[in-house]
Amino acid sequence: MFYITTAIDYPNGKPHIGHAYEKILADVITRYQRFQGIEAHFLTGVDQHGQKMVKTAEAEGVNVATIAKRNTKGFIKLWEKLNVQYDGWAETTDDQHKTCVQAILTDLKEKGALYKKSYAGFYSVRQEQFLTDRDRNDAGEFGPEWGEVIEIEEENWYFKLSDHADWLKSTVQSDELKIIPEFRKTEVLNAAARAGETDLCISRPKDRLAWGIPLPFDPDFVTYVWFDALINYLSFAGYRKPDGSALPDFKTLWPADLQIIGKDILVPAHAIYWPCMLHAMGFEASEMPTLLVHGFWNVRGDKMSKSLGNIIDPDDLAEQFGPETLRYYLCRDIRSGKDSDFDAERLIMLFNTELANDLGNLLNRSINMTKGFCQSTISSTATDDPEDLALRQSLQKTTSAYRHAMDHYELSEALQAINDHVTHCNGYLERHKPWEMKKDETLLPRVGEVLSHTAESCAHLALLLRPILPQASEKILSQLKKENLADLKLDDLKWGLLEAGHQTGKPKPVFPRIQLEEK
Ligand code: MSP
Repeated sequence: MFYITTAIDYPNGKPHIGHAYEKILADVITRYQRFQGIEAHFLTGVDQHGQKMVKTAEAEGVNVATIAKRNTKGFIKLWEKLNVQYDGWAETTDDQHKTCVQAILTDLKEKGALYKKSYAGFYSVRQEQFLTDRDRNDAGEFGPEWGEVIEIEEENWYFKLSDHADWLKSTVQSDELKIIPEFRKTEVLNAAARAGETDLCISRPKDRLAWGIPLPFDPDFVTYVWFDALINYLSFAGYRKPDGSALPDFKTLWPADLQIIGKDILVPAHAIYWPCMLHAMGFEASEMPTLLVHGFWNVRGDKMSKSLGNIIDPDDLAEQFGPETLRYYLCRDIRSGKDSDFDAERLIMLFNTELANDLGNLLNRSINMTKGFCQSTISSTATDDPEDLALRQSLQKTTSAYRHAMDHYELSEALQAINDHVTHCNGYLERHKPWEMKKDETLLPRVGEVLSHTAESCAHLALLLRPILPQASEKILSQLKKENLADLKLDDLKWGLLEAGHQTGKPKPVFPRIQLEEK
């Protein structure tokens, strides 16, 4: 079973384009696994505890549980709209999760992995963490990224992170904790080298923050939001039922095959705290998850932020351009692991050129002319014309480049591979000009062969596109009258999906051009 997770989002507002990208990425990868015949389980959800949620509630003058519930609904609605289909939904206020977090805390305490101490120091209210001198900037100050920094002295519970520092270093070095893309590993190794210096504060006193999971052995404290949140990957996979035993399916899920996160939460949360927590619980190096770290969507080079007022709303975009246009753009216009600028003009341009013009035309011309010149009937494609052979080779090349790219989570490259074959097919039609050939009756059999080559290509392209554009894919197959191909697996994509004599359907634009009203 391929177990895939994303970060769980803070529902302290509406979901933005970065949240949407991550969920779409996970949805596409999940669908791709199934396309390969691999069973997959996709878990996502919301991180409802912590100071951020309390601040939002205070600002709105509403109870924090009410805010969490209300905003969570907004996330669920958006995932529905964007056709993000998950198998498990993680809400950290869920009892299943609370019980699991508390059971883990009890175990760790019994093992001697936790201790209580008093600490005085600087605390970032925004990042909800204690700061050290290492967090000061070149001017010796705590920069604006930390928000309000206060001095506090308090007693708290600590997790002996330092006990696992050496183990962590070797586990990252050996790739047992695998980080994709590779260039992120250096950052993790640097942080791992410092993991022996401090332990992790895992509690907050209730009188300062009551909104969290109470420590089972010290009710004056709640669990630190990150310690609580990271455990969602286990609790919603069936780890630790209330009676202490694991649910039977946990073993089929763990270790997670892929945990998708943004670059901002790699260090320290997912690459330092998380593996050390797992190790302390008794998981071996071979049971560590693989981390897929994506870049950020920015706006004209700036980070999206409420204060800059440049937050991109995926709901508005899906409303205006359709959910699949947004899915296409988010998969197409970012390189795996790198940052990208969100640009609505590029969204329109890429849709209009690559989908409306190129693929849309290919599909429309193939089905339209098959209907007009060949009574909607597919001809045999067992030909040896060099142009036909080249087209079949182009499709083979596309399919293997697509597979290679998707296996490496390089969605943009997979789409490029698809577009390469579309370009090849359009050139093939331009060179043959079936609309001219059909004027000479003796050439009609050849017209049938040519159009059947492009129609066959459309069937393949629809299937390759399916993880990214499930609805468009369905429409293409339905116009080809080949709905039954929808469940075909990648390995079974062989030439000859449309057999000679097959009747295709009526053409209808699948990608109508986006026309913007002139202002
Ligand atoms: N709640 C924590 C994660 C806990 S996981 C156990 C959190 N939440 S978040 O809402 O701030 O971010 C959720 C995800 O969205 C993270 O993976 C984060 O990296 C990602 N993104 C936030 N802004 C982003 C962009 N501008 N672009 C792409 N992804 C971004 O962190």
